[in-house]
Order: sequence, then structure tokens, then C-alpha cells
Amino acid sequence: MNQALPDNPFLQGAFAPIDQEYALDDLPITGEVPDCLNGSFYRNGPNVQFPPRGDYHLFAGDGMTHAFHIANGKVSYRNQWIKTAKFKLEKELQRSAIDPMNPFNCEEEYMEFVLTDKDGLANTACVWHAGKLLILEEGHRPFEVDPMTLDSIGSYDYEGKLTTAMTAHPKLDPVSGELVFFAYMASGPFEPDVALHKVNKDGVLTESITIKTPYSAMVHDFVVTQNYVLFPIFPLTGSMDRAMQGQPPFAWEPEKGASIGVLPRTGGKPEDIRWVECDPFFVFHFMNGFDDNGKIFVDGCQFDHAPLFPTIDGNATEDTEAVLNRWTIDMNAGTFSTTQIDDNRSEFPITDPRYATLAYRHGYYASPDAPEGPMYNCLGHIDHETGTTKKYSFGDRKITVTSEPIFVPRSSGAAEGDGFLLSVATDLPSNTSALKILDAQNIEAGPVASAQLGHRVPVGFHGNWRPGT
Ligand SMILES: [Fe+2]
Repeated sequence: MNQALPDNPFLQGAFAPIDQEYALDDLPITGEVPDCLNGSFYRNGPNVQFPPRGDYHLFAGDGMTHAFHIANGKVSYRNQWIKTAKFKLEKELQRSAIDPMNPFNCEEEYMEFVLTDKDGLANTACVWHAGKLLILEEGHRPFEVDPMTLDSIGSYDYEGKLTTAMTAHPKLDPVSGELVFFAYMASGPFEPDVALHKVNKDGVLTESITIKTPYSAMVHDFVVTQNYVLFPIFPLTGSMDRAMQGQPPFAWEPEKGASIGVLPRTGGKPEDIRWVECDPFFVFHFMNGFDDNGKIFVDGCQFDHAPLFPTIDGNATEDTEAVLNRWTIDMNAGTFSTTQIDDNRSEFPITDPRYATLAYRHGYYASPDAPEGPMYNCLGHIDHETGTTKKYSFGDRKITVTSEPIFVPRSSGAAEGDGFLLSVATDLPSNTSALKILDAQNIEAGPVASAQLGHRVPVGFHGNWRPGT
């Protein structure tokens, strides 16, 4: 990038964008990559192409996907920007013309572009389902790329059936193969509603419904169990009026209260939703959820308030960090409770995907072990059965960053938790990153293998795994 970036912490250090697309085979390996690991590990995150317009928000960078292809003990690597409509337009212009977070801060002739664009930024997450690799960003359609080369194919709408955006956190049911997902502000910018969609194991969109919400909110993640779908409406509100008046389009507004919409997963109609009130805390990410005889249990990394967003008058909120909580929602009694279940600060929680939506024992997350640093430097493992937690640090938090882990089972028939955690760790002094592979049953021992890059993978959001053939 030849143009200087503005002074913003999310464009510097571990977050700074890279400006090259690599195709590297046979990465140098330390340790031994397990023979049973065969597939692709993807990471996705923001990586601005040009200096942004106005105040940069971490969620507003152009998407770049990184792929580590693993087979026969060897690892190859590819990365590509996702060639969205915005990316291509700005590449042509050789500058940023669009503010993805605020249509009123775009170059005037491109305001309409922001309101009608289907591709978005493709900068948040990815999912492998029904033979397609889809790159996700919650405000727009999924964007299909080639799973090996990462070449852009285009935004994907399930043969015209998907008329809304798609969350970055769809839930894949390991029993049925169904992909369940939602979109907030489904009927238009800042509208108070969510749409629920279901795609069967063959990739056919079978059902879509729209549900009114108490107010217009940014809804990042949701919960799916075998019998319920939960929409948490926390007061991270969206407002067209505020945006038009130069105030924050998205802001923390706790006086609005909070509630969780609970819908029967099978046959649930909009009028069947039940709203269960809770305190106005905030959860970006859920580890898992399951139900048993009308009781719903949900584990998520819970903040006191939404980080990264201001109050409605534009003031920054205090720094806050999340800890793992378990919610219990009793649908018969209509009650809600939340209990902290882990002492570690944590984010990017995941589980063995074969137990998503089901009662489960093992969860994993990224975590810090010191007060200061750009991001998280540790991985954690919680055993819900014994209540114990294990942790592994990749190094000093000030100079070491690790990503959300991904769990890959040792084999399809292996016991829950018998497999590997894959993560990308960055060493800031050398400005390089490596794929780290840990035994999920013994994370304290550190990586069993590392595959080293000669460059840095910028801090991103989410990843996923595509099993090899
Ligand atoms: Fe997320």
C-alpha cells in the first residue's frame, strides 16, 4: 500500500493490513503434523485495501481470507482479498470512496451503492456447507470463493431464495446437516426485525421467516439447539435518524433493556416467539447451546456492555472484557438466569462441531494472561463436566497474538474432545505468523506442530475447517 494509513490502533501493529497475496507450498514445519489431519483451515478478517474514509472501525476493513491446506504432514498456504463490488470499485478508483459503517460518509455519488450493495466486505467468517466455501459478513449476502485457490466467485443467494444478509455465525447441525442462520435488520437498513433461514444438507434453502424485534439492534451471534432458536436482542441499537444527524449509527443504549427471543426450531412461526427479559449485558459470541425438557442452556462470553461501540451521544464506553457465563432459560416457568462458570477472561469460544446444538462437555476459547496487549495470547479449554480449565500461552501478551481456535476431530468416530486445536499465532518482533496445531486433550503441552510463514497474518475474526477428501 503506497498511501499512508491514519493513526488508528486497528490499522497498526498486529492489526496492520498486508498488501500481498501469497501462494506458498511446503511451509517449514516444527514438530510433526499429525497424519490424520487432512483438510483446509481458513481464517478471515479485515485488511483495508486503501486508507479508509473517516474514523476507521475494526469491522470496516475489506475482507481477506487465509487458507492453510494440510495433507500428508505438509502444509501449503494461500491468501486473497475477497473481490467484492466495493473492493473492485475502489481498486479502479485507487482510493476509498465508501464508508461501510455510515452511508452518509461516502463520496456522494456512492451513497446509493452502500444502500444497495449485496457483496459487502466479506471480512468476518466463513462456512463450508454443501460443497461451497462461503465468506461471511453479517450485513450482506454470503460470498462464494474457491476452497483451494480462494479465487472469488461472487455473492451467493441460494438460487434467488435468499433475500437478506447472512450472519457471520450460522449454526451447522451435526445430526441433520442443516445450516440455520439469520439476518438482523432483515427488511431494510435499521429496521427492527430478524429473518431466520434454514438450508438443508444438500444446500437447498427450505424456509425463511421474518420476526419483529423490540427495537433495531446489531445482532452478531445467535443460538440454535435441537428444539429452539434464540435471538438475543441486546441494546447495541441502530438508528437511521442518528446517522442522518451525524451521531453514531450504532450505539450502546442500555436504557432500552434486553431480551431473548425464543422460537420453536421446527414449525415456529413469527407469532410463536416468546421474549424472555434479561439485564442489558452483551455477548458477541456463544460457545454452544442445548435444551433438555423445556430448559435451554446457553454458554457465551459475556461482557458488561458492548465493547468497541460508543454511547448514543458519541462517548466511548469503558474497556470491558468477557467471561464465560451459562444461561438457563426455563420455558415452562418463563425464567432466565445467568451464572459465571469460568474465571478466565475469554472470547472467540468454540466447541467440537460434532456437538454443536447438543449437550456437550468440551469448550475452547482465546484468552489473555496479562492486563495489556493488542489481543489474546493464550488458548483455553474448559471441561464442563469436571469444571476445570486448562490454558496455554504462546508468549508475552504485549508481543504475541493468537486467533480463535478451531477444533478438528482426530477421526469422525473419535470421542468428544479427541482431536486438535488449530490457531494462528503472531510474533510481533519478527512480524511473522505460524499455524499452530495443539492436541486438544493436552493443550498445556503446547503445539505438536507449527507451520511457519515469513509474513504476518493480521488480527482477524473467525475461521473454519473444510475436511479433505
Ligand atoms: Fe463474530
